[in-house]
Amino acid sequence: MSATSLAHAPADEPPTRAEPADVILTGDRPTGSLHLGHYAGSLRSRLALQGRCAQTLLIADLQALTDSSGRAAHAARQVPEVALDYLAVGIDPAQTTIAVQSRLSALAELTVLYLNLVTVARLERNPTVRTEVELRGFERDIPAGFLCYPVSQAADITGFRATLVPVGDDQLPMIEQTNEIVRRVNRLAGASILPECRALLSNTPRLPGIDGRKASKSLGNAIPLSAATDEIHRLVRAMYTDPGHARASDPGRVEGNVVFAYLEAFDPEPTTVEELKERYRGGGLGDVALKRRLEDVLEAVIAPIRARRAELARDRAYVVDLLRAGSERANATTEAVVRDVRGAFGLGV
Ligand code: TRP
Repeated sequence: MSATSLAHAPADEPPTRAEPADVILTGDRPTGSLHLGHYAGSLRSRLALQGRCAQTLLIADLQALTDSSGRAAHAARQVPEVALDYLAVGIDPAQTTIAVQSRLSALAELTVLYLNLVTVARLERNPTVRTEVELRGFERDIPAGFLCYPVSQAADITGFRATLVPVGDDQLPMIEQTNEIVRRVNRLAGASILPECRALLSNTPRLPGIDGRKASKSLGNAIPLSAATDEIHRLVRAMYTDPGHARASDPGRVEGNVVFAYLEAFDPEPTTVEELKERYRGGGLGDVALKRRLEDVLEAVIAPIRARRAELARDRAYVVDLLRAGSERANATTEAVVRDVRGAFGLGV
């Protein structure tokens, strides 16, 4: 994938805190196709880091089971779809390893070992887990796997001796818990066998769904990364703007206006966006004209992704091979780490 096909997307500022020596690990649950929120929030920064640091993307199919064990087959089917999304935006498997979590048995073993270093009370205090437990209505019937997924995530991160983890701010508690585990392992080992890691937060604010709520596939309010042209139009036309802006001549609000949030994230001409904001605020710019610009901007972002995805999707065997090769490479790394950690626990060879 050449950089030119992404020329319409504003280049993400190179993340300043990434050093060439950093080892990057991040992951996605394979719950569905990725959308523009993923692109603005994390895929673009992964592209910016590609080639500058060692980077692994983990498709976290085991983690996807922790809150939906009944939908295991669904998660399994989504694994190649997520890989296709990665490739379609320009992730290059020669520079970035793409691996499947369930293929890496060392991660499961690390999880089992780390579970001895964490109390149930500590897991129950994890604010992200608490919110998610409420959101999913588990009440007292929390699957143990779900409560423990921060430990599995610590295994993912340390299994690659990752030092930098690009995540959303909701994942900060996971980084904190990972580092607690790292310090305990190192204390057991009497040496620094695992590095602590830092979060790399995106400099793009979270992109809302078309209705202004959190973008999510299940709410149907997200714009898929490879949306068809008519789907882009339908979703943009349904976008929440300013209910007080009935006529083009009315002054309109830019804050909380979803169209402007998307223009800010994707319009290649920031000065034009500023001018549009001014005209909108003052009265004199209608929603229809504004949305037409966004349709063009999004089409320019999505069209090359869509074309590349369609081309790659014709060769499923390529994707399967690529995931197998990536997982094999990752396996060598994680096996070496679990050997060290076994040693820290005093377990035999
Ligand atoms: N928890 C992340 C999510 O829900 C996915 C994930 C799994 C992850 N393992 C990871 C993220 C390791 C960063 C590092 O999207």
